[in-house]
Amino acid sequence: MRFAIILFLISFFPAVANAERSVSFAEAADSGGALIAAVSDAENLGDLAGILGDEAVEDVRRAIAAKGFAADVGATLSVVSGAEEFGEIHLVGIGADDMRLRDWENFGGRAGALAKTTKAEIVSVAAFGASNEALQRVGVGAMLGAYSFDKYKSDHEPVTGALNIISTDSGAATAAFDARGRHLANAVIWVRNMQSEPANIIYPEEFVRRARAELRGVSNISVQVLDVGDMERLGMGAILGVGQGSDRPPRMMIVRYQGGGDEAPIVYAGKGITFDTGGISLKRNAGMWAMKADMTGAAAVMGAVQSLAKSHAPVNIVAIAALAENMPGSGAQRPGDVVKTMSGKTIEIMSTDAEGRLVLSDAVWYAQERYNPRLLVDVATLTGSVGRALGDEYAGLFSWDDGIAARVKAAGEASGDDVWRLPLHKKYNEQIKSVIADFKNGSTGAPGASTGAAFIGAFVKEETPWAHLDIAGMDWREEATATMPLGASGFSVRLLDHLARDETE
Ligand code: BES
Ligand code: ZN
Ligand code: MN
Repeated sequence: MRFAIILFLISFFPAVANAERSVSFAEAADSGGALIAAVSDAENLGDLAGILGDEAVEDVRRAIAAKGFAADVGATLSVVSGAEEFGEIHLVGIGADDMRLRDWENFGGRAGALAKTTKAEIVSVAAFGASNEALQRVGVGAMLGAYSFDKYKSDHEPVTGALNIISTDSGAATAAFDARGRHLANAVIWVRNMQSEPANIIYPEEFVRRARAELRGVSNISVQVLDVGDMERLGMGAILGVGQGSDRPPRMMIVRYQGGGDEAPIVYAGKGITFDTGGISLKRNAGMWAMKADMTGAAAVMGAVQSLAKSHAPVNIVAIAALAENMPGSGAQRPGDVVKTMSGKTIEIMSTDAEGRLVLSDAVWYAQERYNPRLLVDVATLTGSVGRALGDEYAGLFSWDDGIAARVKAAGEASGDDVWRLPLHKKYNEQIKSVIADFKNGSTGAPGASTGAAFIGAFVKEETPWAHLDIAGMDWREEATATMPLGASGFSVRLLDHLARDETE
């Protein structure tokens, strides 16, 4: 019987779920396929004219004039040419200004999305003027922009074929991409898949299983998973309290990648609520489905360690996922309950829906006790408040240290995961004092994202270099960007990958 059920599940949920064009590099465009080209000046096609025949160039010029295509950033123009070669051409405006690497990644993203709209077996992507480094970012963008989560659509036909980015040395470009960019893009995609999977599929133990599977065979990795007994012995009453309302027990997963000798590691700790109902402080139903992605922080820290380890980055990283399902079961904690954290400090529960700061209070304490990190960054879909402050352009960044804040912001800017600093005044600590315990996990009338940050900060030692990212406005996109299609964004993997490399340069 059980066997039959398993077969049944397998037939419904295919193993290869999100097949896309495979991204690679080639020395020449395939004239029988589709061509996607970056254009900075609609009047002067430059090198592009050199690879199209005269007839195709004429058709492109006519289409540009007819549609008034001005090569503005992100503008696209699709041309069907009567020419035998290059009959399908897509132009993507990149603007005339200096291109940063992230702009090339954005071009790649638009190319990746366009490549899904054609049946051509081979899609060639021309990014004339891009440096070798920029071409790598085009590759990352192409993989990110082509993403969609289709595994539960029974009539879905996956896009297949190749996407070849034109490069003068395609062998070297492909080797470089296989060594790094492909791992980064795959890590972002893994996080998006984890976010998109519903909470009847992903719960703490299943998160652990999938994160482990992704690291199998990768060198210099060690994995440790704390179960309920382990967490009880360590006194982690905060994460245990959050998990106790669910039949699916909480977990703390710790992945260590040692690629940089004996130096103290950077620790990334992520909020991993596999579903947030709010608990006894139950949320309303509108939008509650999106709380399946309340584990984005935990997935992102795991994605970052995947990317860094698989590309053999010379860094020491520890990724910690604080995993629990926040449910209102009969064993659930109540508002008014008091829990004792691993640090010894006690918390009065004002709202069981402010659960992210609870699981993280134990995670960041464990991180400091165990690893004495050279830098600690926690990542969490922590507050609706941050989305109201910053929309879906920036995640909230909090740190007591101007230098750390500047470095994290710079990593965000370079990588494409933008963050904006919000205040973390010491006076916010007044807001989280409880009458009967050391702290309380909710307050009224206070700046929500900042008090959330201050709460986590209460479990960070003065001497620990620390930053907090509140990504609640960024985890799920209502509007696509060049590299982030609708839905799960995989936000912060690129930033964390970039930051770790910067910090250990
Ligand atoms: N997971 C939510 C925050 C959230 C909101 C993430 C919207 C993504 C989109 C978090 O656990 C939460 O419920 N926060 C409360 C905190 C409050 C009870 C102090 C909030 O923001 O309302
Ligand atoms: Zn939550
Ligand atoms: Mn909540």
